[in-house]
Amino acid sequence: MRLSNEVVERIKQAADIVEVVGDFVSLKKRGANYTACCPFHNEKSPSFNVNPARQIYKCFGCGAAGDALKFVMDIEGIGYGEALRHLAQKYHIEIEEQEQTPEEMLRQNERESLYIVSNFAQKHYQSLLFDTEEGQSIGLSYFRNRGFNDLTIKSFGLGYSLNEWDGLLKEATKKGYSAEVLEKAGLLIRKEGENVRVYDRFRGRVIFPVHNVSGKVIAFGARILTSDKSQPKYINSPETDIYHKSKVLYGIFQAKNTIRQEDVCYLVEGYTDVISLHQAGIHNVVASSGTSLTEDQIRLIARFTTNVTILYDGDAAGIKAALRGLDMVLEEGLNVSLVTLPDGEDPDSYVYKVGAEGFKAHVKKATTDFITFKTDMLLREAGDNPFKRAEAVTEIVTSITKIPDPIKRQIFFKRTADVLKVDEQTLLSEGNKLLRKFQDQKQKEQDRDRDRAKPAPTPAPKPLEGLDIEGITFSDETDFFLNEETSITAPPTLPPPKQDAPLDLFKARLYAHERAFVRLLILYGRIELEANISVSHYLLHEVEDIKFENPLYSLVLDIFRQRFTFGEIPDTNYFLQHLDPDVQQLTIDFCSNKHHLSENWEKHEIKVPTDEEILHNTAFKAILHFKKAYSADKMKAIEADMKGLNSSSDDDFLALMELMKQHKFYKSINDFAAKELGIVVSGY
Ligand code: CTP
Ligand code: MN
Repeated sequence: MRLSNEVVERIKQAADIVEVVGDFVSLKKRGANYTACCPFHNEKSPSFNVNPARQIYKCFGCGAAGDALKFVMDIEGIGYGEALRHLAQKYHIEIEEQEQTPEEMLRQNERESLYIVSNFAQKHYQSLLFDTEEGQSIGLSYFRNRGFNDLTIKSFGLGYSLNEWDGLLKEATKKGYSAEVLEKAGLLIRKEGENVRVYDRFRGRVIFPVHNVSGKVIAFGARILTSDKSQPKYINSPETDIYHKSKVLYGIFQAKNTIRQEDVCYLVEGYTDVISLHQAGIHNVVASSGTSLTEDQIRLIARFTTNVTILYDGDAAGIKAALRGLDMVLEEGLNVSLVTLPDGEDPDSYVYKVGAEGFKAHVKKATTDFITFKTDMLLREAGDNPFKRAEAVTEIVTSITKIPDPIKRQIFFKRTADVLKVDEQTLLSEGNKLLRKFQDQKQKEQDRDRDRAKPAPTPAPKPLEGLDIEGITFSDETDFFLNEETSITAPPTLPPPKQDAPLDLFKARLYAHERAFVRLLILYGRIELEANISVSHYLLHEVEDIKFENPLYSLVLDIFRQRFTFGEIPDTNYFLQHLDPDVQQLTIDFCSNKHHLSENWEKHEIKVPTDEEILHNTAFKAILHFKKAYSADKMKAIEADMKGLNSSSDDDFLALMELMKQHKFYKSINDFAAKELGIVVSGY
């Protein structure tokens, strides 16, 4: 299901950044631009800017930046294709899907119809709740008794199903919806046999609609209101073409913006926990709906934050449930914390009891990171029993080795060694053994997958447009568990390898790439890569809030920026005549080596690209090379800072966590640049 290039172009042309962003945040005009409080991070004074002339946005607080399409992708947590469709819908652009077989088309329409009847059913149940006597006296009074107010009830679209066999079926048929589609949406049950019977799935229950991440109703949970023990407490929609339980988190639509802003997602067990916390003002909360967390659900959370805090009941079963599958969360690179609630309380009952402030205070006080939590618990269980203690150590080490980030692992090894009062080396060698074991397993799995897989098509070179080098999302796949870099077979001290490489090497490399960058600006800054996008536009946009380290190159960059604000692009002559002799000399050097640009291409004789193509690629590569060197330099510096900290001190631990976050950020840039460079180089 691909959109034709022509349609993609039309969508991009039609999408206006101010309108698109304006749908999500309220923009204030300031001069030629617009500002707002950034929807991607939590802030009080606006540092989020929209530039209509260039059709881009940029947050000076958190660095989020991109065009209309990128904005939709990030704010909705959806992919490229889905974002295009979203924009197409907004601008009423008809999209004829390309390369779609008749079956695919049918399927697409079928899914569409499932969304439609699910939406109808949600509206229907909601109106029964508010507008019928049975709904009010039974359903609504139940919700109100639980303390849900009308606003809450409406924001979660809660409803009520009459205690009848065919209430929904009748109403839907009257409105022209087909029973067949209702059944496919899981709303009806069919009993085969001598006389086939078809009837409503949900009867005489309060209804919790389940929304997908973009807010469409895809399923329902229905809670019993009587104490009839022969009936299940909840009846849920079955799996359908639009509902895959293991991929959904209850409340994600209502929670996603706050999750991103607060940079943490609270995970609870039940529908009512989500709703109660939401009403209490804690909006960044989702439920796994009674099952243990799946990988897909974790990835869903990871679209919005890397921090998950699990709130669970204080009883033993609750703890066990919380611990199950947690290693998997670690594997995905998320930071996991836990909050224990007092015995016998779930989030719903507890927030009802102590109120929002009391709840928040408890969360603040009781948050423990997962490894520490696990260590404490296992040690308590093991007591003085040496065997149990040894077992505990293995279990903890196993968890730590699941963490993909080597630096984070390092910190946890140190900490755990302190807590367990064992030698760090012992833990590390234990960890290394396990890592190798996992690596072997992984390799075997990969081999098996490869044997099964068809030969992969050669990747098409990435188009330049819409590219976002800062976008962390792109690099996540390269950052996966247990590639060479993340193994801890290297000496256990920080920073890893290259002990003999002096820091200056990084600087030298950085300078070289800064120089290449500046060279393109001075020689080709005015050339248009495409309509209204000059080489300098392109390059400067990529380094918008970066300062070059080398004073001379930094000066050239500043000159460019300054001229730029006057709407001017200085040309080569401008620099040749510049008053600063160093700038002049630099420009002369560049001019005398001008032919270098094309040399590389001609040598390979594969394809003779046009000048524009060369520039495109060269500019693109210059950015990537620079970003790679820049992030490597930053990572080195961070690693050096880390070395000076002591992980068993609490203050330092926090500082370490912060540094790790930064390190991860730069690493993702580095990985992304490296990956893209691979593609560019092999593209010709
Ligand atoms: N659940 C389910 N089917 C059941 C019981 C539970 O699907 N028979 C799921 C529901 O998603 C429920 C979650 O598990 O929300 C947690 O169960 P529980 O704590 O029993 O339900 P609550 O939603 O907390 O309901 P209440 O507060 O009314 O007890
Ligand atoms: Mn409950």
